[in-house]
Amino acid sequence: MQLDKIQSLENKLNSASIIERTNVLCEIIDQRGSCSFYDEEITQLQHALQCATLAKENNESDKFITASLFHDLGHMLTGEDVNSHDFLNNDKYHENVAASFLSKYFPEEVTYPIKMHVIAKRYLCSVQSDYYDGLSDGSKRSFKLQGGYLNKDAIRKLESHKYFEDAVRLRKYDDNAKIRGKKTEAISFFHPFIKKSYI
Ligand SMILES: [Fe+2]
Repeated sequence: MQLDKIQSLENKLNSASIIERTNVLCEIIDQRGSCSFYDEEITQLQHALQCATLAKENNESDKFITASLFHDLGHMLTGEDVNSHDFLNNDKYHENVAASFLSKYFPEEVTYPIKMHVIAKRYLCSVQSDYYDGLSDGSKRSFKLQGGYLNKDAIRKLESHKYFEDAVRLRKYDDNAKIRGKKTEAISFFHPFIKKSYI
């Protein structure tokens, strides 16, 4: 998505009611995510729905479920998908793009786990010897680009972060949300959780 389109999207969201805002945010995932592939197996939309469904099944909070649904919004805002010529070859920091975009509407309980879901993958690979082997091909490809393994200082620093545990849980749902053909809740199912999560 080009910058002027993101700006007009923000203008639309800023003047929207809670119901309209929820519809607009979900439309981004529904429209852009359904034609944009996360990897060879599933679309961004299916991935987002699987991730949010896992969060709901694990009795996570409204805000956490919202974070799970929107955690990869940055890929959609930056137009990254498997068909882009430089997908996963050029880090566009999708985690920061999404967190910054959403921070105008949602509190840090939503935006921090999103912002930290990439470093949480690097953390899990660093402390759990078999974690890397279980990643999808796309996540393995982006791992090195995103900085690879963390050193001891970075591990300690991350472990003391207020949202460390949330970020790691979100990352685990993220990594388990890439199953071809898995049944999920529809996007409208998540509207009430989103509506209860705004600032
Ligand atoms: Fe993801």
